[in-house]
Amino acid sequence: MKCRACSRPAVIDIRRHNTAFCQDCFVRHCRDQVERTVHAYDMFGPDDRVLVAVSGGKDSLALWDILLDLGVRADGLYLGLGIGEYSDASGRYARDFASRRGAKLVEVDIPTTFGFDIPTGAPAARRTPCSACGLSKRHLFNQAALDGGYDVVATGHNLDDEAAVLFGNVLRWDLAYLGRQLPVLPADDGFARKVKPLVRLSERETAAYCVLKGIEYIVEECPMAEGNRHLGYKGALNDVEVRSPGSKAAFYFGFLERVAPLVETHATEQRADLHPCPECGSPTVSEVCAFCRLAEKARRNASRGGHPPETDSSTEHR
Ligand code: AMP
Ligand code: FES
Ligand code: ZN
Repeated sequence: MKCRACSRPAVIDIRRHNTAFCQDCFVRHCRDQVERTVHAYDMFGPDDRVLVAVSGGKDSLALWDILLDLGVRADGLYLGLGIGEYSDASGRYARDFASRRGAKLVEVDIPTTFGFDIPTGAPAARRTPCSACGLSKRHLFNQAALDGGYDVVATGHNLDDEAAVLFGNVLRWDLAYLGRQLPVLPADDGFARKVKPLVRLSERETAAYCVLKGIEYIVEECPMAEGNRHLGYKGALNDVEVRSPGSKAAFYFGFLERVAPLVETHATEQRADLHPCPECGSPTVSEVCAFCRLAEKARRNASRGGHPPETDSSTEHR
């Protein structure tokens, strides 16, 4: 197998592009894909300050590395979720990367800042861990970007992630979520811009990128995510992809080109009712925002030693 770009021996093949690359050309390919995505969706310009949400995993570290190599003004943000040894190790990978690259890492630790952790806080608020975790991430990424004066928050969602989320949203025909499932969400009153510059790369490619660039990352999946629906959708799409390479990309990019414009209006329906949360100032449609309610229930539960909580299934999703 030879590199399609320079004919040296290839180290990786990419079946959906029917191509293969040597180490240098593959690293360049990843960088080009990110650069192309940033331009195609007008994600940010050369003067913008980008806050990269880094989990310590392969995707977000690859993203941060690529953005730094592209000369983007990119700081990292690590959120401590309080998931035992998993969070401790993830934080170490994020910190090690930052110090090796001489980059700035902003840290927000949920247990020390808000007095609860995801494993015990989620059931206290009658949420699954992934729901409480997703809600906290969306809220705190946004808050950190606004507090730090960043123009945009970038996450490491890759093609596999986006195709799997799309699959789930299509299975339920959830038009409100479909209307928001875009690689760029523009800034709005109280909301920083959100971008996903890795949507043209698969997770196999981000893992290979890290290995080839010598970036160490946490390999274990989050212990709380085991058996969740999202992983099931990923598995189903992987089966399809093996039989017909390129399906995942066709599914996702076909949606962006042909369907997203038709469902865009469904995403904005709730926005008219937004007002600032009295506790934290974040825009919300409820009296108190979903994150502040989660934090309050989690803390109350911790202080009374784990008594049965009330139900709360609502969320602010963005
Ligand atoms: P996940 O929701 O775990 O699939 O992660 C999606 C993206 O969210 C990652 O690629 C990161 O950009 C970001 N992310 C996940 N966990 C954290 C964390 N603990 N701290 C900062 N960013 C995170
Ligand atoms: Fe969110 Fe695991 S990283 S529940
Ligand atoms: Zn709030």
